[in-house]
Amino acid sequence: METPTISLFCLSLFLFAATLMPPSVSVCNAHDKAVLLKIKEELGNPYALTTWQSGSDCCKGWYAVKCNTTTHRITEILVQYDDNLSGQIPAAVGDLPYLELLFFHKLPKLTGTIPETVAKLKYLQMLWITWTNITGPLPAIIGKIKSLTYINLAFNNLTGPIPPSLSSLPNLDYLDISRNKLTGSIPPSFGSFQSKDFSLRLSHNQLSGQIPSSLGDAALDAVDLSRNMLTGDASFLFGKNKSVLSYVDLSRNMLSFDFSNVEFNPTKLQYIDLNHNGIYGKLPEGLTELPNLQFLNVSYNMLCGRIPVGGRLQSFDQYNYLHNKCLCGNPLPVCK
Ligand SMILES: *[C@@H]1O[C@H](CO)[C@@H](O)[C@H](O)[C@H]1NC(C)=O
Ligand SMILES: *[C@@H]1O[C@H](CO)[C@@H](O)[C@H](O)[C@H]1NC(C)=O
Ligand SMILES: *[C@@H]1O[C@H](CO)[C@@H](O)[C@H](O)[C@H]1NC(C)=O
Ligand SMILES: *[C@@H]1O[C@H](CO)[C@@H](O)[C@H](O)[C@H]1NC(C)=O
Ligand SMILES: *[C@@H]1O[C@H](CO)[C@@H](O)[C@H](O)[C@H]1NC(C)=O
Ligand SMILES: *[C@@H]1O[C@H](CO)[C@@H](O)[C@H](O)[C@H]1NC(C)=O
Repeated sequence: METPTISLFCLSLFLFAATLMPPSVSVCNAHDKAVLLKIKEELGNPYALTTWQSGSDCCKGWYAVKCNTTTHRITEILVQYDDNLSGQIPAAVGDLPYLELLFFHKLPKLTGTIPETVAKLKYLQMLWITWTNITGPLPAIIGKIKSLTYINLAFNNLTGPIPPSLSSLPNLDYLDISRNKLTGSIPPSFGSFQSKDFSLRLSHNQLSGQIPSSLGDAALDAVDLSRNMLTGDASFLFGKNKSVLSYVDLSRNMLSFDFSNVEFNPTKLQYIDLNHNGIYGKLPEGLTELPNLQFLNVSYNMLCGRIPVGGRLQSFDQYNYLHNKCLCGNPLPVCK
């Protein structure tokens, strides 16, 4: 009669094994965990990632990551405000297939380039890398991540041209690549953004050439092209048609066009900054018909004639009108 002995032996073996098991079963996906540990290693095992330990559950208590509670796959990496963290963005981030948010902010020692492996992230919605020291080009391959709705790469040291492919992202409604060292011109393809109220921020770069007139076809809510070296016309950014347009900053460029007959849609327009350009002609009467206008600065241009009376125009002080060719009237001195 051997059977009872064997089952007793099995039972005791089972009980022994049970005491060795951790109190709760790890739910974190094993592949994602291995990738995160590789990322930690590639970043030189930084102090900030001390909680990332192979013996623990990456969905519980790991700093800067989030899991989907059903699938236990990693959906977010969010690292910010760390002066110690140094090195490059690990190429392994591309191996977290369910990542929706990749967020690095205020990491002055983060260097290197944006790894092209991000293009493998087919559920990525938000690519947010701001205030770091990353360099190199904006990879054109980002235009393949069709799930992207939001790109913010402001305050880095990116160089080279803006890839036209970004406008082929069907769900994108926010693009901020301001405060880099980008060169070349604004791609004409940027008129084909499909969002119904797009926010486009390209300021503080070294962009040159004319603003493509196709940009007049995009439903822009906010457009900031300030502090570049753009030339020529920009009147097509305005118009009776522009019912979503609320914010326009074109200041400190080399734009040159006749402002006299520009029309506006009065529904949303709140902010117009055109200072430091070569804009000529008169201030259009339509400016008096913008009930929501909170800011207007046309100083340092080549404008002439009487400032139209009405709307908010007399509520702005003279510094918003000074240094033109021959603007006059309230709040500037009376016309002769
Ligand atoms: C988690 O993943 C499942 C399956 O893909 C999905 O249906 C669900 O919406 C996700 N949950 C969250 C909070 O994203
Ligand atoms: C940076 O390193 C210092 C010294 O090693 C440490 O005291 C500090 O907590 C670290 N800061 C972060 C955000 O990791
Ligand atoms: C880039 O690094 C320099 C020092 O190497 C630092 O002064 C600067 O703040 C960093 N830039 C950003 C945006 O963190
Ligand atoms: C980024 O640009 C800043 C300011 O121009 C400069 O101080 C810093 O050294 C640059 N960083 C790199 C990594 O090139
Ligand atoms: C107004 O907008 C529509 C649709 O975006 C466009 O087809 C049309 O050409 C625009 N008209 C003017 C005068 O810009
Ligand atoms: C308008 O722009 C000029 C030139 O840059 C500047 O001096 C002035 O302060 C600006 N006005 C406001 C209200 O910002």
